[in-house]
Order: sequence, then C-alpha cells, then structure tokens
Amino acid sequence: MKYIFVIGAGQMGAGIAQVFATHNFSVKLFDVNQEALQKGMEGIHKRLDRSVEKERMTQEEAEQAKAHLETASTLEDASNCDFAIEAVVENMDVKEKVFRQLDEIMPEHAILATNTSSLPITDVAAVTNRPSQVIGMHFMNPVPVMKLVEVIRAIQTSDETYERVEQLAKQLVKTPVEVNDYPGFVSNRVLMPMINEAIFTVYEGVASKEDVDTVMKLGMNHPMGPLQLADFIGLDTCLSIMEILFDGFGDSKYRPCPLLKKYVAAGWLGKKSGRGFYIYE
Ligand code: CAA
Ligand code: NAD
Repeated sequence: MKYIFVIGAGQMGAGIAQVFATHNFSVKLFDVNQEALQKGMEGIHKRLDRSVEKERMTQEEAEQAKAHLETASTLEDASNCDFAIEAVVENMDVKEKVFRQLDEIMPEHAILATNTSSLPITDVAAVTNRPSQVIGMHFMNPVPVMKLVEVIRAIQTSDETYERVEQLAKQLVKTPVEVNDYPGFVSNRVLMPMINEAIFTVYEGVASKEDVDTVMKLGMNHPMGPLQLADFIGLDTCLSIMEILFDGFGDSKYRPCPLLKKYVAAGWLGKKSGRGFYIYE
C-alpha cells in the first residue's frame, strides 16, 4: 500500500495524514469544507516545522513529508489509491454515505478503514460490496504523539485485511491492538464512562471542574484531567460515544450526563469551538 486517501481534515484526519506522510506514503487529504481542509494542511505544516525546531526531524525529512501530501478537491481523487481512511464527523449516516461512494470509486484491491470512535464497523462494512476489506483503524488523539492504534475487526473483515492493516500500523511506528467490533471497542468503553462520571460529579456539585481534574491529574497521574480531556476530544464526540454505549448495551450505567447533553446542545463542543468545560482563546 502506497497511495493513501484521508477523508476529513479535522483534528484526527489531519493528524493521520501527517503520520502517513512522515512515513513516506503518498497522501491525499479531502474535506467537504474548504476552510477545514486549508486549516488541516496549515496545521500539519506548522507541526512539521516545529518538529524540525525541536530536532525531532531534519529539515529534509520535513520537506519530504510535505512533498508527500496534497489536497483532494473531490472524493473521485481516491480512484488511484490503495487505502482510504475516513475521519469525518461521528455520524453513521454521513459515514455510510462516504463508504458507499468510496466503494464505487476505489480500485477493487483497496482497503477501506474508518477511524470511528465507537460506531459499528460491521454496519459500515455492510453498505459496501467489499465487506471483507472494511476495517476499523482507530488512532488516538493527538495522532502524531499517541502510540496506540486499535485495529477493529468487523464480523466480515478477512484475516488478510486485518494482517495488512496491522502491518500498516507498524509501518507508522504505532502499536496495533486487535479488538472485536462491540460498542466503544476497548478504548472508549473504558475511557468514556470515566469521563461521563467526572461530568456527573460536577453536575451533582460534588466538586468544581478544576478540582475534579486536579484529583485525577495529581491523584491518578493522568496527563490531563477528565474534563480537560473531554474538551480536547470534543464534547459532541463524547456524547455520541456515550449514546452508542447506552444503545448498544441497553445498560443504564452508560446514560449520558444531562450536563454533557446541554453543553452539546448549546454548541459548547470543547477546544475546537472555543468553549466547553473551559474557555479557549
Ligand atoms: N497535535 C500534535 N502534537 C501535539 C498536540 C497536538 N494536538 N498536542 C501536543 N502535541 C505534542 C507536541 O509535539 C508537544 O511537543 P512540543 O513541546 O515539542 O511541541 C508534546 O505533544 C507535548 O505537548 P505539551 O508539552 O504541549 O503538553 P503535554 O506534555 O501536556 O502533552 C498531551 C500533551 C500529549 C496531549 C498530553 O496531555 C496527553 O497525553 N493527554 C492525554 C491524551 C489522551 O488521553 N488521548 C486519548 C484521547 S481518547 C481518543 O483519542 C480516542 C477517542 O476515540 C475519543
Ligand atoms: P472534527 O470535527 O475535528 O473533524 C471532522 C471533519 O470532517 C470536519 O473538518 C468536517 O468538515 C469533515 N466532514 C464532515 N462531513 C464530511 C464528508 N462527508 N466528507 C468529508 N469530510 C467531512 O472531528 P475529529 O475529532 O477529527 O473526529 C473525526 C472522527 O475521528 C470521528 O469519527 C471521531 O469519533 C473519531 N475520533 C476522534 C477522536 C478525538 O479525540 N477527537 C479520537 C479518535 C477518533
């Protein structure tokens, strides 16, 4: 696999494109929103320049990575790619539409992956005519820093597809972990109820948001407090994951906190919208 198509140039898609380009893959980055695409590309260039300043990369390596990256103006540009990874909003209708189109456009041998945080890969695979070549490749945020990739097998995913994507993760110097397709996979089934519970402690007035974060940072050695992390992930994404856990398991322990729902309804989506539990300039 050499030619990679990344759909969605938000915080995850841009990070994924950067990591592939840094490891000498040819990458096309696409977004329906031109402004988001521009912003995504600028962010990548800025981070590569910073890596040179910090001596994590030579100037030549950064220039090479930039040369491996281009923007795509339409999904049709995926027609000569070997691998697509989708990182659009966490919404099943949008993702299914993208997968139907990619299935039409991409060559027969191509593998289609989704970076979804929690949506069922099995359902995404089922809308294509190549379900055995559909898989979850779940990167963690921020992608250039975090070492883990959850590789999620839909019930239809073939062993060959799994092995190729596991190998791909290793080529990106990430550690792949094999996971089956159940709500929240492993990462978000464990992480998100902790974040939701932290939101409940604020909602119920047990402690302030700052104090909840301090407890988890200093008491448990977490690099970020859970409310700071929720803002970093995006409160819309957090809510969507809780709803999928709640629907998928039918267990009240996964009910999303009303305060989380209220913030999302207000458009307070965290760092990306300038306001979540905290305010961002
Ligand atoms: N993109 C790329 N690189 C970034 C970055 C970003 N958004 N933010 C930070 N970095 C890198 C930078 O290279 C930085 O190094 P420089 O100083 O050379 O720039 C390095 O990380 C350290 O950053 P900072 O010194 O600014 O801050 P820090 O030491 O607090 O580390 C952090 C930042 C790595 C994000 C750390 O706070 C952390 O690990 N937080 C927890 C992250 C986490 O839990 N991620 C998983 C989220 S859940 C998920 O992804 C799954 C899902 O489906 C929702
Ligand atoms: P984001 O909101 O930062 O970016 C999403 C991008 O998708 C936007 O730029 C939007 O314009 C674009 N988009 C929407 N519809 C599109 C379409 N039809 N075609 C092309 N582009 C389209 O979101 P994000 O945080 O980067 O999350 C993207 C995906 O990654 C989601 O599925 C999310 O669950 C998953 N994810 C997020 C995190 C996280 O911490 N934020 C971690 C792992 C996985």
